[in-house]
Amino acid sequence: MARSSSPGKSTDMPGATGEHGSGETSGYYRDEFSRLAHLYDFALRNAFRWIGGEIGFRCGIVEAADVRPGQKVLDVACGTGTLLTLLAACTGPDGRAVGVDMSEQMLEVGRRKVRLKQVEFIRANAEHLPFEDQSFDRVTASLAIHEMNRPGRRNALAEMRRLLKPGGLVVIADLRRPDTFFTKLGMRVVRLAETDTLTDMWSDGLYGEMSLASLNDLRRQIAGRGYFEMIVGRK
Ligand SMILES: C[S@@+](CC[C@H](N)C(=O)[O-])C[C@H]1O[C@@H](n2cnc3c(N)ncnc32)[C@H](O)[C@@H]1O
Repeated sequence: MARSSSPGKSTDMPGATGEHGSGETSGYYRDEFSRLAHLYDFALRNAFRWIGGEIGFRCGIVEAADVRPGQKVLDVACGTGTLLTLLAACTGPDGRAVGVDMSEQMLEVGRRKVRLKQVEFIRANAEHLPFEDQSFDRVTASLAIHEMNRPGRRNALAEMRRLLKPGGLVVIADLRRPDTFFTKLGMRVVRLAETDTLTDMWSDGLYGEMSLASLNDLRRQIAGRGYFEMIVGRK
């Protein structure tokens, strides 16, 4: 399924251009995740304690993705592979669960954590992914699209659509613009670790960007006590 890279090997890196998607990448990527990869799972698990727990949030994504045994699933910007593990439990050993991320260090934590036959971690830019068209039944991205700038988000969404089989589902879960006293307060803390790409995603609206990417039947759900939204679309 992978066109040009194998687990543990690097693909062409940031800004690479090529034949898929828009054929271009924005070249934008912030690499803090590589320095903090070993702390990521611990920090996220603890942050989620305040908003209903990480596993509940992840299980909501898996449920929305409606993954069946034997299917092929792609998790874009998979980080350390926590969501990927849950998706792989649904594909079973006859399916495939592929995670891509730019950070080799995040992927390395994932490779140590997840040792299932159906799981594969590949280093690649979400804006230009090394797979053939219509390779996957499901594509997911959690807590990742807000890390990308506007051209990056649009390229990544176009890639997600390109890789989906017709009728396949995409599920994107990400931070939501706060609209209550408590979410506004909490988001002030979250934003200490974020950049302008988050505000930019909010100003454009993820729902609208998914619609622009020709993803259909969009359904939006609020998650994590109002801090997140999960949008499901179909190709
Ligand atoms: C906040 S982490 C989320 C990780 C994981 N999806 C999760 O739910 O825990 C954001 C991840 O996006 C990755 N990332 C950001 N931009 C990317 C891009 N253009 N291509 C691939 N990965 C990217 C980072 O390396 C990082 O691992």
